[in-house]
Amino acid sequence: MDWQTIRLDEVDSTSSFLKRNAAELPHRLVVRADTQTGGRGRLGRKWSSPRGGLYMSLLLRPAPEPEVAALLPLVGAYVICRIFTGQTGVPALVKWPNDVIVPGGKMAGILAEYGGRREPWLVVGFGLNLTDSPRIDRGGGMPAEAWSDYGVPPDPEEAQSFVLEGLDRLWPAGEGNPLPAIRSRVERLLWMRGREVRASVGGMTLRGVVEGLDDLGHLRLYGPEGAAALDSGEIRPEPLESPTTIPGGAT
Ligand code: BTN
Repeated sequence: MDWQTIRLDEVDSTSSFLKRNAAELPHRLVVRADTQTGGRGRLGRKWSSPRGGLYMSLLLRPAPEPEVAALLPLVGAYVICRIFTGQTGVPALVKWPNDVIVPGGKMAGILAEYGGRREPWLVVGFGLNLTDSPRIDRGGGMPAEAWSDYGVPPDPEEAQSFVLEGLDRLWPAGEGNPLPAIRSRVERLLWMRGREVRASVGGMTLRGVVEGLDDLGHLRLYGPEGAAALDSGEIRPEPLESPTTIPGGAT
């Protein structure tokens, strides 16, 4: 089944637009806007959305199983890493649970939001800095970077096609859990793998070495208290170093 697209010039947030209207809109609808006035990221952060970037949200209705819904941002981040590195030759990594980082900072973020009581739906929003990297903190202490800092970026329409094609390839017909089949490939691109991090989970802090992922996209850490699998949270290098370190990359 193909994706249908609604293109808007300006909207508060493509994800908010879909959430407001989800009950009347069809499965696999994409809303893309040239600019957003109220772009949102995880944890209530603002997502600055100047013209030139990709701001799109996908409506999945009915929603996939909650476990699969939770790991789609990770799969989306992997798709973007592959496209970016394939086109520029520059390493990009998946920052668990939902970001794409390039040597100088964060280039993309993905936000999945669940809703609908009787008929659950999922809205997955993608934000990619293609030409502009606003100098504001987009969360986690990461500076923002744009694709254009590394090469000629696709235009937003092309970027939309790349992302949707990549997603369809890894998750055909949007069925089942796509992660087990690609887990080891995603792990190879996992930021801070084999290194020590500090994880903030709710109000708690946990230290450990990033071992990888499990099939549900949980982050596997091994620390002084043993093994842990995190289903949400945020990680930072421990001890604190440049938050954008890409081993082997041109940081
Ligand atoms: C994050 O990094 O915290 C996720 C950022 C997600 C931003 C995108 S832009 C399109 C869609 N609309 C929004 O308001 N947010 C998402």
